[in-house]
Amino acid sequence: MALLLLISLLLLSLTNSQCLDIISDGFDTFSVTEYGAIGDGKHYDTEAIQAAIDACHKSGGGRVLLPSGGDYLTATVFLKSGVTLVVQKGARLLGGTKEGDYPKESARWYVVLAENATGAGITGGGEINGQGGEFVVLENERKNVMVSWNTTGKCLGDECRPRLVGFLDSKDVKVWDVTLNQPAYWCLHLVRCHNSWIHNISIFGDFNTPNNDGIDIEDSNNTRISKCHIDTGDDAICSKSSTGPVVKLTVTDCWIRTKSSAIKFGSASYFDFRQFVFNNISIVESHRGLGVQIRDGGNVRDIVFSNIKISTRYYDPLWWGRAEPIYITSCPRFSNSKSGSISNIQFENISAVSENGIFLSGTKHGLLSDIKFKNVNLTYKRWTKYPGGLFDYRPDCQGLVKHNTAGLMVEHVSGLDIQNVNMKWFNCSLINGWGVPLYFRPNSVDKLSFHEWQSEDSIDN
Ligand SMILES: *[C@@H]1O[C@H](CO)[C@@H](O)[C@H](O)[C@H]1NC(C)=O
Ligand SMILES: *[C@@H]1O[C@H](CO)[C@@H](O)[C@H](O)[C@H]1NC(C)=O
Ligand SMILES: *[C@@H]1O[C@H](CO)[C@@H](O)[C@H](O)[C@H]1NC(C)=O
Ligand SMILES: *[C@@H]1O[C@H](CO)[C@@H](O)[C@H](O)[C@H]1NC(C)=O
Ligand SMILES: *[C@@H]1O[C@H](CO)[C@@H](O)[C@H](O)[C@H]1NC(C)=O
Ligand SMILES: *[C@@H]1O[C@H](CO)[C@@H](O)[C@H](O)[C@H]1NC(C)=O
Ligand SMILES: *[C@@H]1O[C@H](CO)[C@@H](O)[C@H](O)[C@H]1NC(C)=O
Ligand SMILES: *[C@@H]1O[C@H](CO)[C@@H](O)[C@H](O)[C@H]1NC(C)=O
Repeated sequence: MALLLLISLLLLSLTNSQCLDIISDGFDTFSVTEYGAIGDGKHYDTEAIQAAIDACHKSGGGRVLLPSGGDYLTATVFLKSGVTLVVQKGARLLGGTKEGDYPKESARWYVVLAENATGAGITGGGEINGQGGEFVVLENERKNVMVSWNTTGKCLGDECRPRLVGFLDSKDVKVWDVTLNQPAYWCLHLVRCHNSWIHNISIFGDFNTPNNDGIDIEDSNNTRISKCHIDTGDDAICSKSSTGPVVKLTVTDCWIRTKSSAIKFGSASYFDFRQFVFNNISIVESHRGLGVQIRDGGNVRDIVFSNIKISTRYYDPLWWGRAEPIYITSCPRFSNSKSGSISNIQFENISAVSENGIFLSGTKHGLLSDIKFKNVNLTYKRWTKYPGGLFDYRPDCQGLVKHNTAGLMVEHVSGLDIQNVNMKWFNCSLINGWGVPLYFRPNSVDKLSFHEWQSEDSIDN
């Protein structure tokens, strides 16, 4: 009996030392080096990585380890049910830069792709890198010119580039403690997923590269995102509806900088967006802060934004956005598109420093209703040289329209509730058309309630 106990103690300590930084929960670990991966960043390790994933999946699930110290160059690898890819700290998974590295269909161009998977995940403290720089044809501070792999005609112009990580039609997705670096196109893409948990991830994309979104949540339900750090050129956290609604999205404790929208709904918006919560988010030097861009007839309702700090500034007008801290719009994309409504949207405990005002714009058949602002501090300053004086309806609709800056611009809104909103303007007398607190489109606004509203000029020396 005593001997047996001793043996089992020995076994236990052995297991523990072998697993060091990996939790021992009975699932097996498959190291890609045991399947022949070289990790020199030059030879493709695709087959070794895929063989490890397949073996892991066949054994009932577990971990596929990319050990520290290696640069594992790969064509698309297919993540399977029950498999967690563990890219260790000090290891990098590098996406190939040739069209032949990716599947035939452009909708499946990802460096890591999970399809129809349950319980697949990525973690480990290391990095997945799309080598986005290799896809730049011409560097340009205004906007980089990118390669186009439009050989089949299935994707649009320079949007024909591979995404970094995709989970399609999957359940119980987990991505945590990992860095996603230099995507060539979108970075982390969830499509028709159910139950996703994204936690403590960092995303770094080139600030001048178009379409290098951070996280895109498309037609997916029950998505939780927490503790993310996103610094990239295009939309940072973007929900889209193409084939079905987006229901229940929670985003908390995130830091974002982008040359586009930090938080965006749309603009693909054929179905509904509902029950979203955004809490404790810092948005830094971005082009647009909280942006709802409904263009295709989907409706938005029951959304809460709370405890959010925003700074928005002008960048080159080639990029959508005119420094709006909050931008809630619904307009039909084309004259024959449907109009979506936006209702029950709350903003509480928000502070913003921005070069432009809040933009609330519905249309006759795409009404904004029950919009509430509570405890909101707005500071208006100019610190870049880009000219102001434009309303930005892009994408599509009326495009860019000349108009004086307004602290709050409202059109086609029914039910606007303002409680404790403070506006502070800098240098009103020095800037043309600057310092107008409110602009209402006549005959398009009703049910207004203002409690404690202030707007003051601050003399700045
Ligand atoms: C995923 O499931 C769909 C629908 O069942 C099927 O059409 C598709 O081929 C599957 N894809 C993969 C990679 O298994
Ligand atoms: C994409 O390629 C197709 C044919 O391969 C071509 O007809 C189309 O004009 C191209 N579109 C763009 C936007 O480059
Ligand atoms: C967050 O992830 C990074 C790796 O990307 C890791 O080094 C760090 O320890 C994680 N933070 C926490 C609190 O787990
Ligand atoms: C999300 O939930 C809606 C109903 O609320 C359902 O119609 C839709 O199919 C669900 N989508 C997914 C991907 O589970
Ligand atoms: C807010 O999020 C930041 C990370 O961006 C985190 O450090 C901080 O603890 C969070 N604050 C609260 C009150 O949870
Ligand atoms: C707004 O400013 C007031 C006065 O400086 C401050 O007490 C309050 O906490 C601020 N509210 C927010 C949401 O930042
Ligand atoms: C907003 O801030 C107030 C005062 O700090 C706090 O009592 C309230 O719970 C906050 N609201 C939300 C939705 O976090
Ligand atoms: C206000 O204008 C003065 C004089 O042009 C300038 O020095 C100062 O930086 C401006 N302040 C702000 C906050 O824009």
